Amino acid sequence: MILDFGDGFFLRQATVADHAALAMICLKTGDAGKDATGREDDPDLLGLVYTIPYQVLEPDLAFIVDGPAGACGYLLGAADTNSFNARLVSQWYPDLEARVADPGPDSSRWRGSDWLRHKIHHPDFAVPQALAAYPSHGHIDLLPQARGKGIGRQAMAFLEQRLAASGSTGLCLEVMPQNVHALNFYRTAGFKVLQDVGLPNRCIYVAKQLGFAPGVAG
Ligand SMILES: CC(C)(COP(=O)(O)OP(=O)(O)OC[C@H]1O[C@@H](n2cnc3c(N)ncnc32)[C@H](O)[C@@H]1OP(=O)(O)O)[C@@H](O)C(=O)NCCC(=O)NCCS
Repeated sequence: MILDFGDGFFLRQATVADHAALAMICLKTGDAGKDATGREDDPDLLGLVYTIPYQVLEPDLAFIVDGPAGACGYLLGAADTNSFNARLVSQWYPDLEARVADPGPDSSRWRGSDWLRHKIHHPDFAVPQALAAYPSHGHIDLLPQARGKGIGRQAMAFLEQRLAASGSTGLCLEVMPQNVHALNFYRTAGFKVLQDVGLPNRCIYVAKQLGFAPGVAG
């Protein structure tokens, strides 16, 4: 156990044995924080893109929130987004691309998880210049039974500490614009919304300076 949240909830390191839980939680929170089960036709694909590679490629920063009924959340980080993306390209995407067929460019024909299959075959790993001050990124998703108990706040503070201790100067996360709850959560946790024409508008970037950065506002 790494952190005890009380009431039977705690944080622990994620292992290979947690891949199914990482995929399940990702699916159940994959529609801007809501359950994406009804939208996806491949229940494992969201996890294979957004969660499992963190346990494989950056295991020191991959954590599970466990509760009385088992795994009910995850906290994932990458200390250096550029380096993590390079590992995704060389060590993760070749097998992922071989697993699914490209549905083609016509999005009007896409069904179920086709949007994700297309993304797998046409990934964009470029890190916008506007994120240069925030070299690390993270993900947090909790199932309903773990929400609203202060777990997200404590878990995010823990990730910030781990990253700062390893020398990271900043952390950013992507939030879907319709996920108002998460945006409020990040604001409360001291993150600021980044606004820059160089950022893609498919999501909102929230970011926080870590450690000591003299002369730079968080
Ligand atoms: C978003 C999420 C991680 C927040 O974690 P949480 O454990 O539910 O939040 P907490 O209970 O730790 O709340 C932390 C703080 O944020 C505040 N907060 C949480 N939700 C809020 C809201 N909707 N509006 C305003 N403040 C909010 C709380 O009041 C609390 O403030 P406090 O520390 O001053 O008491 C969690 O609810 C979740 O996983 N949701 C579904 C998936 C998701 O949206 N993930 C994020 C994808 S980017």
